[in-house]
Amino acid sequence: MDKKITIAIDGFSSTGKSTLAKQLARHLGYAYVDTGAMYRSVTLYAMENGFIDSAFFNSEGLTDCLDDISLQFLFNPDLGYAEMYLNEENVEGKIRTLPVSNLVSLVAEVSAVRAMLVKQQQHMGENKGVVMDGRDIGTVVFPNAELKLFMTASPETRAQRRFEELTQKGNTVTFDEVLYNVQERDRIDTHRKDSPLVKAADAIEIDNSDLTIQQQFDKVLELAKNALAVT
Ligand code: DC
Repeated sequence: MDKKITIAIDGFSSTGKSTLAKQLARHLGYAYVDTGAMYRSVTLYAMENGFIDSAFFNSEGLTDCLDDISLQFLFNPDLGYAEMYLNEENVEGKIRTLPVSNLVSLVAEVSAVRAMLVKQQQHMGENKGVVMDGRDIGTVVFPNAELKLFMTASPETRAQRRFEELTQKGNTVTFDEVLYNVQERDRIDTHRKDSPLVKAADAIEIDNSDLTIQQQFDKVLELAKNALAVT
């Protein structure tokens, strides 16, 4: 049987983690797991059930309802990757909006939410052959991953990318709003008590401010081949 590894991709928001993870997964024939989509789905559930809005967060109420949240990734053959389902509903469109982005870091601070999602992520990757992206994959979810990447880029570069993505999808947002969101999420993600965003000691840092998507992919594929060769 072919050798398989686990590839953990962590880093700041809008650093292109998911683009890279999807490319790698497709190329290697691995599963791709977007753990940000799981935190976003729990946030959407909290919003739709009155546990959170811009002025209020009932984290205990949400914690009490965690058993009612069912998350699933279902492969879409037309797209070539899996899409996120929350309680049987495809929520890909709903979870990528700015209102969800503005609240997700608060929900991701709740330890009970993290414990539930980390357990599901570990289960999804237990047979290796997975590319998982997030904030704590190389530090908490798979501390023994054979390849760990830590992605960075300047806040302005990241905000510009996210701004283009959102406006192309028809969302009405300003660049400043998006930049504020990127910086605010960095602050909360790196300062939270439970599993803050930090680079694992053995992660390889990739600053892609000046790399094309192809250059980045070539570089990382080389790293993946090296990791496979020594496994
Ligand atoms: O990758 P993303 O921007 O879709 O992630 C959304 C938020 O979810 C991010 O601001 C922090 C949180 N998150 C997390 O705390 N841990 C993860 N493994 C993935 C995401």
